[in-house]
Amino acid sequence: MDGFRLAGALLRCLDPETAHRLTLWGLNRNWAPSAPTADDPLLRIRLWGRDFRNPLGLAAGFDKDARAVGPLLALGFGFVEVGTITPRPQAGNPRPRVFRLTEDAAVINRIGFAGDGMAAAATRLRAWREAGGEGLVGVNLGKNRDSTDAPADYAAVAGALAPYADYLVINVSSPNTPGLRALQDRRALERIVEAVAGAVSKALPRRGPPLLVKIAPDLTEADQADIAAVALSGAVQGLIVSNTTVARPADLRGRHKAQAGGLSGRPLFASSTALLADMYRLTRGKVPLIGVGGIASAADAYAKVRAGASLLQLYTALIYQGPALIPAIKDGLVQALRRDGFTSLADAVGADHRPHG
Ligand SMILES: Cc1cc2nc3c(=O)[nH]c(=O)nc-3n(C[C@H](O)[C@H](O)[C@H](O)COP(=O)(O)O)c2cc1C
Repeated sequence: MDGFRLAGALLRCLDPETAHRLTLWGLNRNWAPSAPTADDPLLRIRLWGRDFRNPLGLAAGFDKDARAVGPLLALGFGFVEVGTITPRPQAGNPRPRVFRLTEDAAVINRIGFAGDGMAAAATRLRAWREAGGEGLVGVNLGKNRDSTDAPADYAAVAGALAPYADYLVINVSSPNTPGLRALQDRRALERIVEAVAGAVSKALPRRGPPLLVKIAPDLTEADQADIAAVALSGAVQGLIVSNTTVARPADLRGRHKAQAGGLSGRPLFASSTALLADMYRLTRGKVPLIGVGGIASAADAYAKVRAGASLLQLYTALIYQGPALIPAIKDGLVQALRRDGFTSLADAVGADHRPHG
């Protein structure tokens, strides 16, 4: 057993949040593998005026407070999304609130946006950039649990973090903040988008980052159509599909399967990929989509690309497979693209929707 497999096995003996804190601590002490070799040019993709060296990103929730952006990028991710970040610090729900469902390669979490708040995250990101930090960073925006003015909360975080972000995400899909997912309703979402866009153009009048919306896998068809309409109106420049699910597939086996919270990992793959395909169809391939939910292999990643994802993210599979998964997915993606005769990643995006794709 190599060092990382051993470390992973030991970490999985600990309570998930303790293991996670230790992982972030270790990453900042250079325990991670050294900088990976260059990515195959086939994996490059340009979106929103940014060049992604590969499409595989780290999903929100792993580095909520922007503590380890540099070391995480050095694992080989093409981009890292930090957050969810709220205006003020908050403690989140009582522990335990993260549960491994090992038999299902899944996790249930109900953390509820615990974090240091926007000022601390902005300080860390500024320090990282000023120290010469390079790489693409998305910032996931949230609201405080006790806030009664959601648009003002999202706008505050957007204004504070926009200078350090390659894209911003309006997260209206976490299941652990009461009332949050109702903000996916068209009128509510439009109000938030308007407030955030205003804050961004005030902070950065000319070169504001693109605005994305992260959606839940549990949306009704009417909600899906509404969100597609908002995206097609040009008010937002991309969608992230999807967050965790409140559904509990009947075949779950892990002893924690009845815990409340959002389910991620393998049991989320089918529903999140189906929603990705639906959103690609509803937006007629015109809006860049980030596919996330249950990616645990190159085949999963490639299926998301063919369903309509221009970029990909993962979280849960990293808990079970460790950082070796990142090069494995990238290598397998290159092989799949070559096998199917694609000369760029962009050509494969949405291929399943084309008659001879
Ligand atoms: C422990 C944990 C915490 C998470 N926290 C957040 C969060 O703060 N904001 C967010 O948008 N998504 C959060 N997510 C959801 C992930 O970003 C991702 O959408 C979801 O886990 C599906 O991907 P996966 O199956 O690869 O894990 C979290 C997921 C996990 C497992």
